[in-house]
Amino acid sequence: MQLINRPGLEQVTEPSPSSVVLATRDLSKAYGRGKRRFEAVNQVSLTLHRGEVLAFLGPNGAGKTTTIKMISGLVRPDRGQVRVVGEDPHRSARALRNIGAVLEGNRNLYWRLTPEENLEYFGVLRQVPRKIAHRRGLELLARFGLEEKRRTPVQNLSRGMQQKVAIAVSLIHNPQLLLLDEPTLGLDVEASETVKTLVRQIAKEGRAILLTTHQLDVAEELSDRVAIIRRGRMITQQSTESLLREFSDSAYRLEVDGVPTETQRVAIARLGGHVDGQSITYAGTSEGLYALLAALQPLPLMSVQRDRADLTQVFLKLVQDNQEPTS
Ligand SMILES: Nc1ncnc2c1ncn2[C@@H]1O[C@H](COP(=O)(O)OP(=O)(O)OP(=O)(O)O)[C@@H](O)[C@H]1O
Ligand SMILES: [Mg+2]
Repeated sequence: MQLINRPGLEQVTEPSPSSVVLATRDLSKAYGRGKRRFEAVNQVSLTLHRGEVLAFLGPNGAGKTTTIKMISGLVRPDRGQVRVVGEDPHRSARALRNIGAVLEGNRNLYWRLTPEENLEYFGVLRQVPRKIAHRRGLELLARFGLEEKRRTPVQNLSRGMQQKVAIAVSLIHNPQLLLLDEPTLGLDVEASETVKTLVRQIAKEGRAILLTTHQLDVAEELSDRVAIIRRGRMITQQSTESLLREFSDSAYRLEVDGVPTETQRVAIARLGGHVDGQSITYAGTSEGLYALLAALQPLPLMSVQRDRADLTQVFLKLVQDNQEPTS
């Protein structure tokens, strides 16, 4: 990590280039033929550093899973490249050994085998010596609170336990990059919390995590950066904090002492504000804000606060703003 000073900006921490774990450039994949041909993923470039969680978000069918499959060597890109710790997973076994993946629907487990057997089996498959795979497997099971269930076939475990086993298996070969496709899907609150804690711990160990989820509160809580994809194209990629701040900069919440009159309500609505009892929310320019304050007179003003945007608002706005006109 290196600290840099940018004029007019606060001091920011920039990761050094050597900490890059994943870099994709212009990844593209089309499906279908002739008139039915469409670009499921279109020139997607992503960067992920050590210890970082990147939330990879997008509506259904946006191309997230296809991108993850290209990163993990399962689907060959039509164009573009993938580098995992500097190597191409489509050519180098070493790159593959640095990837752990939990894809949609836990397909990385054998349901008839126990957690212990799964860990050992997949460890050996990824070239971990059997004894080491066994030992590491037991450590992971202990860490994930699954010791008691280590000899129960995976098919007889609860959904949350299966998910934990899937994550444990993805870590058996000690990869630097972890790809998690909807890891909290279908989990209850408690199991979701456990998975979130695990994701945080795994990132703290210095691994890089690419996380897709439709649970935007989970993404907001866990991610250092956010990448949003829509119809195969990247809309934005930036730090979660700066994205939220960018949208929060123009959002305000005002409290007044008294309820605005009908005339005031109409004036506020015209300025783009929204009245809810004695609160007014507004997103727009500061000139607009002053006009709104003028419209509220003579009601006493109790407070004006920046209204922090959440990731759900930002996501919906960005995805709508990037709607292509339908032909
Ligand atoms: N093997 C395939 N053959 C044809 N089309 C495919 C194939 N795999 C994916 N697609 C299409 O590519 C598009 C992107 O799918 P993908 O699974 O990557 O989306 P996603 O962002 O993961 O969506 P979700 O949030 O629903 O999981 C979809 O239109 C999908 O139907
Ligand atoms: Mg998907």
